[in-house]
Order: sequence, then structure tokens, then C-alpha cells
Amino acid sequence: MVEPIYQSTKLQREKWIKEASFNLFNLKSEQVVIDLLTDSGTGAMSDRQWAAMMLGDESYAGASSYYNLKEAVKNITGFDYFLPTHQGRAAENVLFSVLVKEGDIVPGNSHFDTTKGHIEFRKAKAVDCTVDISADTTTWHPFKGNVDLEKLENVLKANPAEKISCIIVTVTNNTAGGQPVSMSNIREVGKLSKKYGVKFIIDSARFAENAYFIKIREEGYADKDIRDIAREMFSYADGMTMSSKKDAIVNMGGFIGFRDEELFRKASTFNIIYEGFLTYGGMSGRDMNALAQGLYEGTELQYLESRISQVALLGTKMKEYGIPVLQPFGGHAIFLNALEFLPNIPREEFPAQALAIELYTEGGVRAVEIGALMADRDPETRQNRYPELELVRLAVPRRVYTDNHIEYVAASVRNVFERRAHINRGVKITWEAPIMRHFTIALEKL
Ligand SMILES: Cc1ncc(COP(=O)(O)O)c(C=O)c1O
Repeated sequence: MVEPIYQSTKLQREKWIKEASFNLFNLKSEQVVIDLLTDSGTGAMSDRQWAAMMLGDESYAGASSYYNLKEAVKNITGFDYFLPTHQGRAAENVLFSVLVKEGDIVPGNSHFDTTKGHIEFRKAKAVDCTVDISADTTTWHPFKGNVDLEKLENVLKANPAEKISCIIVTVTNNTAGGQPVSMSNIREVGKLSKKYGVKFIIDSARFAENAYFIKIREEGYADKDIRDIAREMFSYADGMTMSSKKDAIVNMGGFIGFRDEELFRKASTFNIIYEGFLTYGGMSGRDMNALAQGLYEGTELQYLESRISQVALLGTKMKEYGIPVLQPFGGHAIFLNALEFLPNIPREEFPAQALAIELYTEGGVRAVEIGALMADRDPETRQNRYPELELVRLAVPRRVYTDNHIEYVAASVRNVFERRAHINRGVKITWEAPIMRHFTIALEKL
């Protein structure tokens, strides 16, 4: 699909971002030149996906599209039971309606914001057990998304199994910079989950990119097929949630995979209430067909090589220009280290948001803050939470931009970097929602 790219001037962008209350989510797409806000639902579908859409079966119950998707889910993930949902957070909502109760604990590697939102909304606690090295932005480590097994076991030891809803491992670890989780780490988490009688769920949005990193970085996997690697990853878990808008390269869709029929049955009731009947769950037949096809395309080695190397091209350019970025480069995005990029801005003035605003006004490049705004307030103390890292994420949509566009983005970041000494003030909050505030926040420039 070919789409227009909208040109604009710096003066126009300064006016638009002010009108948007300095929240990049409030910008209209035509006010953006290159949109790296997210890689979620922004990919371009293939000829085969569009063709599959034409064959969508829109029957309420038992549509052939549902069975196509069921077969693809089984082939790619190995899970026998599955429920379609309209996107990843809907999968979380349905599954957590069964698993998460008030006062529970949900350990894992860094929970994604909607995952954490669903946990905290139920008055349960997400405990981040990511390896410490993930906060080190420069040391090369092949699997910075890993769970620290000792931290996890301490949580499992300190709490009765009925207080722990499940363990959630997010692959790749988006919040920690799109960093992969190794197969051996997933296997060990699986062992701990069995030892302590707690369910193990994989948040699988970028499972194929994770499988690719296992193939190229973990001993013993170089000659294995991406799909075999993915199936092995899932074989250690009791279930999965999926935002199909990432590695299944569709614009909308999600699902839950289950090993256990009983959990599937319990979740089915919630799926009907929140999403739709079991054989469509918030998706049209044509969307399920596109998703089934996308699961196969997203796990093709050639596609993954080209995607991940395009992301790395952006990272390499950043390094060439001396710009502080998280390393190794993430699978879906490059993360700018805002604390080093704009050291003059105090954390209370949200340096990563300030950097994202500068980058937008400079070149019309829309990125997203992954820092204190996204970290929200502590639900008990209501104080701002300051995560170790304050990042700006440049997420690359799948099969959308050319390397030329990537070079344009790199030049825009470089221009901001060259005048960084003159950027000394950030933003202050003028309005915020009680939870997941970054989506709708209103800000003022200081
Ligand atoms: C790791 C992870 N989990 C869950 C989600 C939520 O998925 P969705 O946006 O489809 O609701 C996302 C979305 O960005 C994600 O990155």
C-alpha cells in the first residue's frame, strides 16, 4: 500500500504541537512527516493478506476464517485452545478477568503499560524482575530482556501460590528497549512456574523478533527454523496473550492461546462479555484471515532479517553521530537515552518528553516518551515514579518506510543533538488521567 507523506514547516509544527498540549498522541497524522510513534498496527499488509481478506467469512459462528486462524495459531504457537480478541489489551482484559484478583502479585520482566494498567486496575501488583543489566544502556548483552531468575524465585518463595496470578514474560521486552529474552531464560521460568504451581503466560506481541534474536545470538539455534524456535518458546508456557498488530503484521487484532482447556473455558465467558462470540471475539472474518496469513509472513526469516536490519540502520546512524542510544539495538525500535541527550533538564521536567517534542518540531518525526510520564504515579503514594531509564522510542513500522526515510529521521535527530546545549527546560503537567496518563496528558512548555 502506498500512502502520502505530508510535508510541513517548522513554524507550522510549533503551532500544532502547542495546540496538541505538547502531547504527541494529540497530533493529526497529516501533521506528522515520519510517524515512529509505534510499530503497533502501523505495518503494511501484503498482497496475500489483502487477497485473504477478500475471502473473509463473516458468519457469526463457526466462520471458515476462524478455523483458518485456529490452524495458524496451532501451527505457529503450538497452543490447542485459543480465543480471538480485538487487540492485545483485550486479550489481557479477558485473561486477567480469570487470573488476577485484588491483592495479587504478578511477577515477570518489565510489564508493558497496558498489562500493568490491567493489573493495577484490579488492585494487584506488577513486580518487575528484569535483569539489572537491562538498565545499563551501553554494555552489550545478547538478552537484556531476560527475567532475573533469583528475583523471580524470591517473589515466588515469599508469597503463597494463590496470591500470584501468573508470571508474565514479555517477548521481546518492549519497556526495557525491545530487548530479547533467551530460550534458556524462558525454559527456566517455565521450570520455576511448575515448581511453585503458578501459571506462566507469555506476552507475545513480538515473539517472532524474539525468535530471530534467539536464532542469531543463542548457542544451538543458528540452524533452527524461526517457527520451530517460536514453538519451543511457547512450549514452556501455559498460555499467551498476543497483540497481532506487531509481529502478525495486521492493523487490528489479537488473541489468547491456552494449553489448558479449563482456563480456556473460564476465559471464554469473559470473551463473550467483552469481545464477542468465541469464533470471532472482536474481529471480522476478513481480519481473522489477514491475521492467519500475517502469522506465517511475520515468521519468515527473510522478512525478519530485512526488518531488524532496517531498525539497526537507524541505530548505527545514531552511533555514528555520537547520539546516546540503548544498545544493543531493539528489534522494533531505537531508544534514545534522554538523560544523556538532554542532561540539563531535571527529571521533574520530563526530559524524554521534551526531547520527543524537539524531534517533532525539528523534522516532523513523531516518537514516544518511555519515561516518567509513561511510568505513571505510584497507585498508593500518588508520587511520580521515575524509572531508571528515561527514553524516547523511535518505533519502526513494518514494511512501510524505505531506508531513505530512516536517513531523514537520523538527520533530524542529529540536528536536535547539535543544538542540545540550548535545550534547558522541559514540560510541566497541566492535566492528567488517574491511570495510563501519557496517552491523554496535557502539558505546558517551561
Ligand atoms: C508487549 C506488549 N504487550 C501488549 C500490548 C498491547 O497490545 P494492543 O496495543 O494491541 O492492545 C503491546 C502494545 O504495544 C505491547 O507492546
